[in-house]
Amino acid sequence: MIEDMLRTPAAVQDAERHTAHNYHPLPVVISSAEGAWVTDVDGRRYLDCLAGYSALNFGHRHPTLIAAAHAQLDRLTLTSRAFVHDQFADFCRELAALCGKDLVLPMNTGAEAVETGIKVARKWGYQVKGVPAGQANIVVAEGNFHGRTTTIVSFSTDEDARADFGPYTPGFRVVPYGDLAALAGAVDEHTVAVLLEPIQGEQGVVVPPSDYLPGVRQLCTERNVLFVADEIQSGLGRTGATFACEQEGVVPDMYLLGKALGGGIVPVSAVAADADVLGVLRPGQHGSTFGGNPLACAVATEVVRLLATGEFQRRSAELGERLHAGLRGLIGKGLVAVRGRGLWAGLDIDPALMSGRAACERLMARGVLAKDTHGSTIRLAPPLTITAEEIDHAVAQLAAVLAG
Ligand SMILES: Cc1ncc(COP(=O)(O)O)c(C=O)c1O
Repeated sequence: MIEDMLRTPAAVQDAERHTAHNYHPLPVVISSAEGAWVTDVDGRRYLDCLAGYSALNFGHRHPTLIAAAHAQLDRLTLTSRAFVHDQFADFCRELAALCGKDLVLPMNTGAEAVETGIKVARKWGYQVKGVPAGQANIVVAEGNFHGRTTTIVSFSTDEDARADFGPYTPGFRVVPYGDLAALAGAVDEHTVAVLLEPIQGEQGVVVPPSDYLPGVRQLCTERNVLFVADEIQSGLGRTGATFACEQEGVVPDMYLLGKALGGGIVPVSAVAADADVLGVLRPGQHGSTFGGNPLACAVATEVVRLLATGEFQRRSAELGERLHAGLRGLIGKGLVAVRGRGLWAGLDIDPALMSGRAACERLMARGVLAKDTHGSTIRLAPPLTITAEEIDHAVAQLAAVLAG
């Protein structure tokens, strides 16, 4: 097809015209998708190695999830929590069981789950731990990414995410990620929670030292502090287990979940914790019009059932080995470092060679979609349904890009 007959350039311009420029998307305009593949308005196919920042762990339009959504659309979509609906109980019971916790609290976006976790931890601190009114603090890590609300960006260490959005919410202490001594030094008698990503996704898939999460668990237990694990990106199969914490033998007091919980169809997030923690909330103290709606619950219950089979976690673990072996083979050939676990990888490109953005543009031209983060880092997070051949294809395309 000759270049000026393509629909993409005009469609990209059109998409920019009436939106705030808070994203810098790759110039691809997607119109349909199935499994690990998307198709653009010009009929070109791409292997999706971002998977909606892990919101599409089960691939695009997984048949079981689409069927659940269709069936629910034909019956009931929204009630608000003012009433009970018939999809709610199964979702809460089955998600709580998957998490090994007593209770769940459904919300919509990841940021709302984080906000919920912060509110619950503070209330627990005042009502259960006995922290004096207004004195609670929460310890977080440098390089964190927990979402975009004003409270959450208040404790971001990324200037782009934070600058000019103050005044900032007080009550957070930031310590270096992976540094147990610094964490122990920041915790005091008014600390109600340590809030961490078990692997820092947006920071470039940064895996902490192996003694870190067990050490955090022990410290939190000893000091009567809640360990709140933000598994919004790392959880639900991405790393080769249901939760990234699990791989370190650690059970947090609270899981924050989102992204893949909605099956790539609807925004669904949740907080999961035992009754002594989530039980602090009473009617009127927290909520959301859309949280736990019938459509969300119908889809997310099927997501939980897919995860309960263990198949996706196994695929991620096994195929992740293949992905990481392939990527490690490119170290010294354009890559300077590869991190990650399961089907999740952060790649540092030799900055002398090209930026992460340039690498993603060249990958796109070769039919592979990925996203850069922080200069020369690329993140790969393909759907967990990707095949071994497709992984080899993605690695081969990356090798070709790096070879120039
Ligand atoms: C670890 C983590 N927490 C929270 C969020 C925020 O989720 P959402 O964009 O759905 O608000 C993200 C999003 O990337 C994330 O990676």
